[in-house]
Amino acid sequence: MVVMKRGRESIDAAETILAGSRFVRACLRKPVDRTPVWFLRQAGRYMQEYRDVRKHHTLVEICKKPELAAEVTITAAEKLGVDAAIIFADLLLPLEPMGLDFEFQAGEGPVVHKPVRTAEDVRALRTDRAGDLAYVALAIEKVAAHFRDRLGVIGFCGAPYTLASYMIEGGGSRNYIHTKQLMYRDPIAWISLLDKLVAVLTEYCRLQVQAGADVIQIFDSWVGSLGLSDYRAYAFEASKRLVRTVQAMGVPVIYFGVETAGLLEQMAATGADVIGLDWRQPLDEGWRRVGDGHAVQGNLDPITLFAPPDVLEQRVKEILRAAGGRAGHIFNLGHGIVPETPVENVQAVVKMVREFRLEDAHG
Ligand code: CP3
Repeated sequence: MVVMKRGRESIDAAETILAGSRFVRACLRKPVDRTPVWFLRQAGRYMQEYRDVRKHHTLVEICKKPELAAEVTITAAEKLGVDAAIIFADLLLPLEPMGLDFEFQAGEGPVVHKPVRTAEDVRALRTDRAGDLAYVALAIEKVAAHFRDRLGVIGFCGAPYTLASYMIEGGGSRNYIHTKQLMYRDPIAWISLLDKLVAVLTEYCRLQVQAGADVIQIFDSWVGSLGLSDYRAYAFEASKRLVRTVQAMGVPVIYFGVETAGLLEQMAATGADVIGLDWRQPLDEGWRRVGDGHAVQGNLDPITLFAPPDVLEQRVKEILRAAGGRAGHIFNLGHGIVPETPVENVQAVVKMVREFRLEDAHG
């Protein structure tokens, strides 16, 4: 039978698998005809079409105009021939309705103008305006209407720890000194900050799911800055709460982080359906640590996309062999595509994943 509805509860065995179902089924560890594939940061500056749109609009403008955000999302997914489209937005958007202004400075990444440093700053953050982010939901509606069941639509948000680190550091960071200082010195303010983030992110994800997101990815991009004890003590509980609340909305959750080799078991304990793996350990090792009760997503080093075709192919096959055809692998990078990446190499990886047959894979 042809799959009509998606979501956690509504997937039946499918003979004719559409890409959207292939992706959602893999998130739920159900058998699929081939490994689904998409890329972190698949819509971005490495793509001419995106650069053309960016000539006329800032990043935040694109995010806030559903027509443009949908166009950028759709163009990238179609050009690559992937199984899922991640909505074009940014991790930092929820900061604005919470009362923090930020901007993207060329070459510097995001800059938060008045970072959160004290308990008083935490108290001033608002949690009642998540509805201002409805522009993201409108963009998702457009993307979902365009693809119907042909492709999976991924909504996303930052994890509480990673967003807190942006709020406190005021941007990217090397050592997370301010973040860890607040966390260690004022655990009450820290918990209150994470609670506020969970409240806003819950409503933000609800908007995205209601608009038609099939899956939500939670980016804990900088969680690898924490040791296991600190992750357990200061970040895990808020992530777990967000994961479970989003799952209760009826969609699978992908929980992703970088440099997480020491945290994988604990990240899996959030109960996320899929755990994102970076490239620093082989996929099968990472999967063993996550446990077979979870699907995994990954884990090609994004810089392999600069390697000659034979090396690239070797690495792609290595990952597919490590997954061994088990239900619940979604092919992806270990982190986002970087701006200088040749588009044709990304397309070549899609072709390799599509054509891979475990039986033919030797050496
Ligand atoms: O297809 C896609 O994935 C694009 C949608 C997307 C963007 N940001 C648009 C964007 C997604 C999923 C994000 C998530 C995001 N944003 C993360 C988590 C992903 C990760 O890499 O771990 C993070 C940490 C951010 C914060 C952020 N936004 C940074 C650090 C930067 C600067 C990076 C740089 O190289 O300059 C951004 C800017 C940004 N967000 C760009 C895009 C396409 C590039 C800048 C631009 O177009 O001006």
